[in-house]
Amino acid sequence: MSQTANPRSTPAVTVRPLQPGDEAEMRSLFCQTVHQVNSRDYSPEQIQVWASSANDEARWRALPQNSQVLVAEQTGKVVGFTNLEADGHIDMFFVHHQHQGQGVGKRLMQSLETLAQAQQLNRLYSEVSITARPFFLRHGFDVVTEEQVERQGIWFTRFIMERSGPFVSRMTQEP
Ligand SMILES: CC(C)(COP(=O)(O)OP(=O)(O)OC[C@H]1O[C@@H](n2cnc3c(N)ncnc32)[C@H](O)[C@@H]1OP(=O)(O)O)[C@@H](O)C(=O)NCCC(=O)NCCS
Repeated sequence: MSQTANPRSTPAVTVRPLQPGDEAEMRSLFCQTVHQVNSRDYSPEQIQVWASSANDEARWRALPQNSQVLVAEQTGKVVGFTNLEADGHIDMFFVHHQHQGQGVGKRLMQSLETLAQAQQLNRLYSEVSITARPFFLRHGFDVVTEEQVERQGIWFTRFIMERSGPFVSRMTQEP
């Protein structure tokens, strides 16, 4: 009998709307991703200020009121999230630091594209980190401008990036 093992399949990532109880996991994911991933491109002082917004109660409370929140889940665990405001603004886009480079971001972007298409948006745009810039470029966004923003006395470089519709996923059109 053959000893060849079946290749282990990776559990599927599903993208769904925000559910009650997600917030704590999302805040923790955000904080850890900033510390573990964005720290490649930003200084310890910048990371400290950025991660501290995990404790900004008003911001997290407002998130589902001001936007549609999409949560990526794998075997019951939140592995990423993003959100879409009515005018096409993407405020947050974060993947779990232990699930980077596994296609979670791609799944979230495809779901954003589906939402944008359903809502007949003609533009998606975001203020994108240095870290996420290559990912957004890969997904058809262009850099409109580079800007410096101040938070708690610390300055950050980020990029205004946008993509025009129609929003049929460019990634899925490829072989
Ligand atoms: C940017 C981010 C969301 C990407 O998520 P991810 O799940 O790692 O990305 P995926 O695995 O889905 O990658 C999708 C595609 O983008 C490419 N890509 C992703 N990150 C990349 C990078 N840093 N440089 C170049 N290409 C990149 C991948 O190669 C892949 O292309 P392929 O399909 O041709 O192989 C993730 O790295 C992240 O959470 N970054 C930190 C948080 C952050 O800065 N968020 C934005 C705040 S504005």
